[in-house]
Amino acid sequence: MRRVFMMVLVLMVSASFGGVGRLLEAGGLSGPGGVDQERKPPVPPKRVLIVYFSHSGNTRELANQIHRNVGGDLFEIVTVQPYPREYKEVLAVAKRERDSQFRPKLSKRVKNLDDYDLVFLGYPNWYGTLPMALMSFLEENDLSGKTIAPFCTHGGGRWGESVETIKRLCPRSTLLEGLAVEGGLVKSSQGDVADWLRKLGRLRE
Ligand SMILES: Cc1cc2nc3c(=O)[nH]c(=O)nc-3n(C[C@H](O)[C@H](O)[C@H](O)COP(=O)(O)O)c2cc1C
Repeated sequence: MRRVFMMVLVLMVSASFGGVGRLLEAGGLSGPGGVDQERKPPVPPKRVLIVYFSHSGNTRELANQIHRNVGGDLFEIVTVQPYPREYKEVLAVAKRERDSQFRPKLSKRVKNLDDYDLVFLGYPNWYGTLPMALMSFLEENDLSGKTIAPFCTHGGGRWGESVETIKRLCPRSTLLEGLAVEGGLVKSSQGDVADWLRKLGRLRE
C-alpha cells in the first residue's frame, strides 16, 4: 500500500513539473513575473524612395506613374536658383553649368535617408548626361548599400552617359536595369512602366 502511495506521489510531482516545462517552452513564464525579457520591438520594413528632377514636367509625370504602381515616398530635387522657363535660355544655363561642372545648391534634403533601401532615381537627359542638380544630389546623399533603379526622359539620346556617371558616383550601390522614355511619349508609357516594374518584381498587382 505504502509503495503504491509513493508511486502515485512520484507520478503527480513529475506531471506537474512537466506542465511547468511546457509552459516555459511556450514562453508563458519566460521571465520574472511572466514578462518576456527577450522580445524586441519589431524592425520596421525599409521603404521605397522615388527621387526625381524635372524641368518641363516629363520626368515628374514618369515619377508619378512609378509612385502609383509601387507606393513609397516622392521627393523632387529643386534648386535654390530656378532654371529659366524659356527653352533657349535653359539650354544656355545648363550648358554653362555642365561646362564648368557647377553644382547648383538644392533647396531641401531627404529626411531619414536610412529608412530607404530602394531608390528610384529620375532625371531628364541634359547634354548627354545628368543635369548638374543630380550631381549635387548624389554628392550630398550617400546611397551606399542601397539599390538604385534609374529612370530618365530624353529627346532621342536615351541615357547618354548618365548611367556610367551614376555608377561612378555610387560605387557601393546596386544599380538595377533602368527605364528610358522619350519625353513626348511619357503620357502613354503606362504599359512600359508596368512591364519594367514587373521585371524588377516591384509591381503592386
Ligand atoms: C538643357 C537641356 C538639355 C537637353 N539635352 C538633351 C540631350 O542631350 N539629349 C536628349 O535626348 N535630350 C535632351 N534634352 C531633352 C530632354 O531630355 C527632354 O525634353 C526631357 O523629357 C525633359 O524632361 P523634363 O520635362 O522632366 O524636364 C535636353 C533638354 C534640356 C532642357
